Amino acid sequence: MKKLVKKAISSMEKAYAPYSNFNVGAALLDDKGQIHCGVNVENAAFPCGTCAEQSAISKMIVSGGKHIIKIAVAGKGKILCTPCGACRQRIREFGSKETEIIICNEEGVEKIFTIEDLLPQNFGPDNLN
Ligand code: THU
Repeated sequence: MKKLVKKAISSMEKAYAPYSNFNVGAALLDDKGQIHCGVNVENAAFPCGTCAEQSAISKMIVSGGKHIIKIAVAGKGKILCTPCGACRQRIREFGSKETEIIICNEEGVEKIFTIEDLLPQNFGPDNLN
């Protein structure tokens, strides 16, 4: 199994998800060759919870990374754990046509998408230039 996928899967157990009991792990590879992991962190005030992709992206930014080369997202269950709408937009902000979004379960890779697959006709930084 590839390193990024392993890290997304192993991060799942560190998630703080006592309300949904749905642990999500994410691991991304940035343009500097660094890997950043993230987990979902829920809150008793439900809307304050954060997603795994979101925390991995924050780590990339604070570490000086600018671009997502690949991001692996891991969640349990038979249904693909694809990023939520807001996280698709967050990945769009720092991704490109080539960015791979690798969806995994506990066993490994299930499916790989591009941003265009998950967020067609998207709005991004180019719109504001
Ligand atoms: N979750 C993520 O971490 N990433 C997603 O893209 C989908 C949803 C989390 C949020 C919440 O803690 C739990 O999964 C159930 O929605």
